[in-house]
Amino acid sequence: MRKKYLFGTFKNKLDVFSAFDVLVQNRSNTARESGHQIGVAPSAICLAAFAGLDHGYHLAAQNVGWSDSYSLTGEINADDLVHYGIGFCIIAHSERRLHLNEDERIIEKRLAECFKKGIRPILCIGETLEQYEAEQTSEVLTRQLATLSRAAEALGRPATADDLLVAYEPMWAISTSGSGKTLNAEIANDIHAAIRGLIDQAFGRALGDEVSLLYGGSVNKDNGAEYFAMPHIDGGLVGSGMQSAEGFAAVSKDFQAHC
Ligand code: 13P
Repeated sequence: MRKKYLFGTFKNKLDVFSAFDVLVQNRSNTARESGHQIGVAPSAICLAAFAGLDHGYHLAAQNVGWSDSYSLTGEINADDLVHYGIGFCIIAHSERRLHLNEDERIIEKRLAECFKKGIRPILCIGETLEQYEAEQTSEVLTRQLATLSRAAEALGRPATADDLLVAYEPMWAISTSGSGKTLNAEIANDIHAAIRGLIDQAFGRALGDEVSLLYGGSVNKDNGAEYFAMPHIDGGLVGSGMQSAEGFAAVSKDFQAHC
């Protein structure tokens, strides 16, 4: 039985006070006992403070640096995530690919660092609108997943479903992309099934069947139930829809009811 995960990411949209407000107002909504795992990805500056609070949510960083012979000013030290018990890290978010030119070389290093330190990457994959319309989605996702195969060698053993999460986020369906377009839930489900097939091919059947696949194309309180009910969608990575106390509560409720 695959685990179900919902992560609300605050991106750089919520300052410390707003982020605390969302968390404090939702303190009673956690549902780890029921098998529904809910987490928050606040900005880096909130992480240590959130780690010291009793709120019951998983914590995810939005980025991590890598250790090498050179220094990396401005990057997050993975050991700090470990010290604070932050178990997850979003990697390769499309906003970073698009606006910060994060390429496969950098993504591979970040992923490998997570694997070395026992932090579970939430690897974001997804195509642009042009690629979607040109029916290149499968080709793009295959290329993005190849980075994962190379990085997973850092584990020194076969990857299991407890090592990582994958979030399918069509770049054009993310709220900040400005396209105003969304992906129909059935098509999203079919693409998740195809991603499972690609993971099967790269890592073997067990991982393809067991890995939790999240959807992240602007899930919100109005559409969450539809996506969560799909058999190949194991939860969500949600931005704007969970960046308010009310949105966080509503999407969490739909996740627990339908996923
Ligand atoms: P929105 O939910 O705001 O579309 O953002 C999705 C996303 O980028 C999650 O990583």
